[in-house]
Amino acid sequence: MAKVTIIGAGQTGATTAHWLAKREIADIVMIDIVEGVAQGKALDLMEALPIIGSDVNIVGSNSYEESTDSDVVVITAGLPRKPGMSRDDLLAANRKIVTSAVECSIRVSPNAVYIVLTNPLDAMSYLAMKKGGLSRERVIGQAGVLDSARMRAFVAMELNVSVQNVHCYVLGGHGDDMLPLTRHSNVAGVPLDKVMRPKRLKAIIERTRKGGGEIVSLLKSGSAFYAPSAALAQMVEAILLDRKQVVLASAYLDGEYGLTDIFFGVPVKLGRGGMEQIIEYDLNRSELSALEASVSRVRKTIEALALG
Ligand SMILES: NC(=O)c1ccc[n+]([C@@H]2O[C@H](COP(=O)([O-])OP(=O)(O)OC[C@H]3O[C@@H](n4cnc5c(N)ncnc54)[C@H](O)[C@@H]3O)[C@@H](O)[C@H]2O)c1
Repeated sequence: MAKVTIIGAGQTGATTAHWLAKREIADIVMIDIVEGVAQGKALDLMEALPIIGSDVNIVGSNSYEESTDSDVVVITAGLPRKPGMSRDDLLAANRKIVTSAVECSIRVSPNAVYIVLTNPLDAMSYLAMKKGGLSRERVIGQAGVLDSARMRAFVAMELNVSVQNVHCYVLGGHGDDMLPLTRHSNVAGVPLDKVMRPKRLKAIIERTRKGGGEIVSLLKSGSAFYAPSAALAQMVEAILLDRKQVVLASAYLDGEYGLTDIFFGVPVKLGRGGMEQIIEYDLNRSELSALEASVSRVRKTIEALALG
């Protein structure tokens, strides 16, 4: 059985374990710094397995030994946003947490593929790659699966159509300046801008961009976790089962889309080797210029890491 480690057994980490346990594709190790939390949630999940009919092993720990030789490591450790905060406001606190998570994990799982969730997402993915000395294939940030799913949900609700008929693609950094693509997104093959009035489409684009903040302000404490963890589980599965599945995710660009030395949300192919390919969409001038604000914000956050 493959092994997946989830660092951070909070809302997103434990819910990722929950979605993964149901899939029965890997044994799971959850690690947290708080004594008892990972252990308690792992035991609770183990006790759910007879009911859902899944034979995997789930353990919780405060140290990394149990996670030795993991195939995939998911990093969710870190503070979530409070109402009124931007994701970038989390940089100072979360850089220490992600650095320690990568450094501890790489010692015991040097061959794993790393998926980062902690915010600010693109900068934390960059940090993980640099601190872990990892190749770009082995570090992927989760953002686009979630942002695209939010847009798909809003379109499906608006048009009263199955989510399975709705295909949406959101590019860019994981911030309110992300770019929901309307030309490429479609409902059963019909481009979105042909099935929806411009005013409604504009409202859905705005709601997608601010989708994370909408949930933070409703919850008052903590941020979204069901959809983010479902996104993580889909990415883990694509890697472990070598699906060659194209998803939107934050990847290290080395010339693609005319960008270098940045983690940015683009379509990537996921397989056993991690990020196996970056797919380049043919973007028009207005789409490219809409991405500029996102590029410069992500660059600023990465520069604030001062990694040289
Ligand atoms: N990229 C995305 O789409 C996305 C979506 C949702 C949340 N997030 C981010 O994911 C992170 C986690 O969110 P959450 O809702 O699970 O938060 P949470 O507070 O529920 O859980 C975080 C957990 O990390 C643990 N932790 C802290 N430092 C640690 C360390 N050094 N080692 C191991 N564990 C440690 C905490 O004890 C806590 O249990 C946040 O930064 C949040 O902003 C990103």
